[in-house]
Amino acid sequence: MKNMKIKEIMFTENDIDGIVSELADKINSDYKDCQSLTLICVLKGSVIFTADLIRKLKIPDIDLNFISASSYGDSDISCGEVKFESVKEFNVSNNDVLVIEDIVDTGKTLKKLVGYLKGKSPKSLKVCGMFDKPERRSVEFEPDYIGRSIPDKFIVGYGLDYAEKYRNLPYVAVVEEETV
Ligand code: PRP
Ligand code: MN
Ligand code: MG
Repeated sequence: MKNMKIKEIMFTENDIDGIVSELADKINSDYKDCQSLTLICVLKGSVIFTADLIRKLKIPDIDLNFISASSYGDSDISCGEVKFESVKEFNVSNNDVLVIEDIVDTGKTLKKLVGYLKGKSPKSLKVCGMFDKPERRSVEFEPDYIGRSIPDKFIVGYGLDYAEKYRNLPYVAVVEEETV
């Protein structure tokens, strides 16, 4: 594993709060007639974003659920395979469902998850990503809500990891390989 160091801050804590508020405003407006919503937080990366977003949502009944998806393992290289594990059973059929992700990269995780959830006949199904790297897309996938599109740089913090580190940073930073 390469030694990485923080190169620059891309989004401060304050920037992030503004982006999450913008997203919550859009979602609140689109779901204004909606009584209940099934949220699916994709572990581990989107746990911080989910925690912030749900506290800004005004939909009366929110059912928060977790699914574990992992494609990158312990390095920054994708092995090209996405694995899912549901933390606890939840009901999708006939519900309005919103998937929450920290970042859309190749699109493989969400494309596969959306295909899986569609098979369970939701009433509606949308995806909200905090960040998007459109340059990296290798499968056709467009999220319904995106906080910010970003260039193809390796970012950490606000739930995003490098080899399971840095998720706890309250800001989003670009990391680069340490040269001695
Ligand atoms: C990262 C990220 C997304 C996914 C995006 O998760 O949190 O879930 O990769 O990549 P993709 O668009 O190329 O599929 P990761 O698999 O690293 O697991 P983690 O959330 O536990 O860090
Ligand atoms: Mn993830
Ligand atoms: Mg990861």
